Amino acid sequence: MSGIDYSYFINTRSARRRPALTREITKRQYGGHKDHISLAEGVPNEITFPFESITVNLKDGQTFAIKGQELAAALQYIPSQGYPPLLKQVKEFTRRLHRPPAWDKCDTIITNGSQDGMSRVLEMILDDNDTMLVQNPYYAGTAAIVKPLNVNVIGIDQDESGIQPRKLVEALENCKKYTEEGGGKMPKVMYLNPTASNPSGTTMPTDRKIEIYRICCEYNIIILEDDAYYFLHFLDRQPDSFLSIDTEGRVIRLDSMSKVLSSGLRLGWLTGPRKLVEQIEIHISSSILHSSVLSQVIMENLFRKWGINGLVSYFEKVAAFYRVRRDFTIASMEKHLKGLCEWDVPSGGMFVWFKVLGVSDVYDMLLTRGLRKHITFIPGQNYMADPTAACNYVRASYSKASMKQIDKAMRILAELIREEHLLLRRKLDGLEENLIIRHT
Ligand SMILES: Cc1ncc(COP(=O)(O)O)c(C=O)c1O
Repeated sequence: MSGIDYSYFINTRSARRRPALTREITKRQYGGHKDHISLAEGVPNEITFPFESITVNLKDGQTFAIKGQELAAALQYIPSQGYPPLLKQVKEFTRRLHRPPAWDKCDTIITNGSQDGMSRVLEMILDDNDTMLVQNPYYAGTAAIVKPLNVNVIGIDQDESGIQPRKLVEALENCKKYTEEGGGKMPKVMYLNPTASNPSGTTMPTDRKIEIYRICCEYNIIILEDDAYYFLHFLDRQPDSFLSIDTEGRVIRLDSMSKVLSSGLRLGWLTGPRKLVEQIEIHISSSILHSSVLSQVIMENLFRKWGINGLVSYFEKVAAFYRVRRDFTIASMEKHLKGLCEWDVPSGGMFVWFKVLGVSDVYDMLLTRGLRKHITFIPGQNYMADPTAACNYVRASYSKASMKQIDKAMRILAELIREEHLLLRRKLDGLEENLIIRHT
């Protein structure tokens, strides 16, 4: 095991953060000795809250009521790390599913979804003019976090197994040369969305992960593993996570319940090296104090009702739901877009990522002429490390529209692409005519 100097991954602004005394007291006293008298904290008295009980009825017919002491806890301030009974469940869940080799160095914190965790990690690590690595294309929500941080984003191209190790090493060696000449800084973090990636639908196999991990060890890079679609793969077996191969303690993993239980609950958790998790806890303690407790209490009840196996088998049913939609969408694309577009079949998730043939840039086609035809697709630029370059990729989501609507949208898209080809042809013909006129 290497001794990683985690202070290298905590920027100056983050290092200035200090825990608030009252938050520390809440942490120490939560669930403490019942005879202990505290006049310390400015917590409201739950007696004044108007809620008597909250009953949750599940679609499977089971039910639970949050009342009494549990309701009081659900409506009250808690330690910034999370609702302790949920933290316990989540840690056991992570330990059972990922068997992290560096588990004794890890800790977990509950976040308001994985986006919240991601923004805190990147704000902790990245300084002005730092360099960050991302898979290219990558989740646009990450780009939105990084934009104001004024960092240099290097996109590593992917194949059907995710980012290519050769390209990663090439990029790192270029950075090294540039840094040695005094021109930049070596990347400290790499953002990866390894299962059913948004937008490309790619899942990174274990051998590729091991190779990428080894390179990150060599160049001292933290892997930010955003696995929002971990349970939404359509493969025969659950992919191994980066956390499950992390022997050194250089993976920060983000889990999210958004895609499998509810996005509105805003519930996720972050697992990583204890020193970095503590730093994030200090950040949370000064911003939102802690994630919504009511959401955490609902989740904790679900853990107790269903157990880990019950939760996982529920997630499998959710994946099966999206798989049917994926199959339908691909069949619809075969019907309408064959010869006009090219795609790989997504290995999970909610998106299909495809290339439009004969059109170098899809932006105006989709966002001007497409919207006029009442269809919306996202132009690929939105997901590229360099969003200023022309892009002929499109992301389509098959998660929510009805199958009839998906089929209609694909048919209209085919029409739009054919019209675009005509438009381009006319432009070219006009150009040729102008040239001929000028030269005669
Ligand atoms: C790859 C990826 N990461 C993170 C998120 C945000 O998830 P959460 O709702 O957990 O914040 C999304 C949501 O679309 C996503 O696609």
